[in-house]
Amino acid sequence: MRDLIGYQKSAPTRFQQILGAQFDSITPENDMKWAEIHPSPGVYDFERADAVMRFAQLNKQQVRGHTLLWHSQNPAWVNEASTTWTCDEARAVLKDHITTVVGRYKNKIYEWDVANEIFQDTWDNGGVRLRTEANPFLKACAADPEALIGDAFRWAHQADKKALLFLNDYNAEGINEKTDAYYALAKRLLADGVPLHGFGAQAHLSLQYGYDGGLDANLKRFSDLGLKVAITEADVRIPGVEGREPTAAEVAEHASRHVRLLESCLANEACTSFTVWGFNDDYSWVPQTFAGEGWATLMTGDYQPKPAFDAMVAAL
Ligand code: XIL
Repeated sequence: MRDLIGYQKSAPTRFQQILGAQFDSITPENDMKWAEIHPSPGVYDFERADAVMRFAQLNKQQVRGHTLLWHSQNPAWVNEASTTWTCDEARAVLKDHITTVVGRYKNKIYEWDVANEIFQDTWDNGGVRLRTEANPFLKACAADPEALIGDAFRWAHQADKKALLFLNDYNAEGINEKTDAYYALAKRLLADGVPLHGFGAQAHLSLQYGYDGGLDANLKRFSDLGLKVAITEADVRIPGVEGREPTAAEVAEHASRHVRLLESCLANEACTSFTVWGFNDDYSWVPQTFAGEGWATLMTGDYQPKPAFDAMVAAL
């Protein structure tokens, strides 16, 4: 999310104008993450997050909150302190953070990604299991990480009774080992009375990987538990596109994957939101993160809508 501080509706930048006009829900890409919003112990910096809220309010948009418990983009002080934290100390820090941040935007954020990417991948050391090494909070509470996760949801619910509280992850679209783990976790949390309300599939897709379309069945099994579901960070990157134009086949596949994601959400009554992770290639996280990959968003860097943009509008 860029350029929202000092936003004036009367003189918007092109980015702001499109962001304000084309979307009815927005999500801060980084502005509510720990490193941004809680840079030092006891010090909160809400400037950028407040600017997002103000922008949304002026443009009559809803806001998805992202994120409260994650292994990445934590401030240095958390990473340092966590090397010696007891579980009680970690819990106190997390509780203060969740209470403060969720409380500040009470009744203004309709969904929060409470726990983000808490499971490892199949290829990680130890396979699909909770990130009790990389996540500083889960690490401190490695003896019972699920208790901490449950409490994170409870603290968030305490701070905002209306917000829908989500688990969220990548590689979480189809039915696979990771989503099996989420499904089992969600059942246990619900059985424990944890205020878990939703499951978010990020949907960071790449044309170098197949797309099995198991999304409908996966979303359905979560909604059958009584949970909401959402597509939370959609983009479709093209490998090897750096320095060239995509081929016609790539452009078509980029569009059809976007449409299939959208259709899965539209087909499930419990699907509350569909969020794309940036809408302009110049501002996309993809080229800096995945070497050689790009063209992932709905618009070129100069704001030309791609076929995916029109195809999604037509699918609505
Ligand atoms: C990414 C942002 O887009 C980048 O700007 C930042 O440098 C790193 O994080 N999954 C998530 C998001 O949940 O928070 C990540 O966002 C992308 C992957």
